[in-house]
Amino acid sequence: MTDRRAGIVVLISGRGSNLQAIIDAVRGGDIPADVRAVISNNPDAAGLAYAKAASIPTEIIDHRTYSDRASFDRALMHTIDRYSPSAVVLAGFMRILTPAFIEHYRGRLLNVHPSLLPAFAGLNTHARALAAGVQEHGATVHFVTPEVDSGPIIVQARVPVFPDDDAKGLAARVLAVEHRILPLAIRWFVEGRLTVQDGRVLVDGGIDPRQGLRPPTA
Ligand code: GRF
Repeated sequence: MTDRRAGIVVLISGRGSNLQAIIDAVRGGDIPADVRAVISNNPDAAGLAYAKAASIPTEIIDHRTYSDRASFDRALMHTIDRYSPSAVVLAGFMRILTPAFIEHYRGRLLNVHPSLLPAFAGLNTHARALAAGVQEHGATVHFVTPEVDSGPIIVQARVPVFPDDDAKGLAARVLAVEHRILPLAIRWFVEGRLTVQDGRVLVDGGIDPRQGLRPPTA
């Protein structure tokens, strides 16, 4: 058998703009891998249309049809594994995963989160950042560990918070940097350049300046 390109599976729940950023990066040659499948827990996820437009197989595993988290996660694993991905990417996937699932994909499960972790884990990050009065906010891509929104940080990007920001505007500013750092982290991963040492992610054995990516100043 000839060598196949690395494959990734992307999990989504909704809009899918991060999925689209991944598809664009694959297309543009920035990620040397193929998206083998897109899986959604939500049959109405708008992002499924992006996968279809790119001729990527889609799967729907509706969590509402499973009696508990464990059986949903087992079905999810079963489907993911049929595609033998080297990485599984959570791109706006809004379900909490069981430790058994996370263990199964240990070291190859990546998540994008809309805050500068460890600040603002969980939901409603933009409103909480505004309420806290922070001057900087941002996004994080990290390896997933059983603790929600924890795990070794691969890359972060910061954005400024302005006095007249509302949550919607701030979310859009953060989303723009998510679209840059998620493909970058996937690229590093599939190129085999990431190692984790004492809970810290190294790129090519060291700290890459882009891991603390800042957007260009205006
Ligand atoms: C992103 O902000 C992601 O970080 C968060 O949910 C949003 C999903 O957006 N978990 P999209 O579906 O990729 O457009």
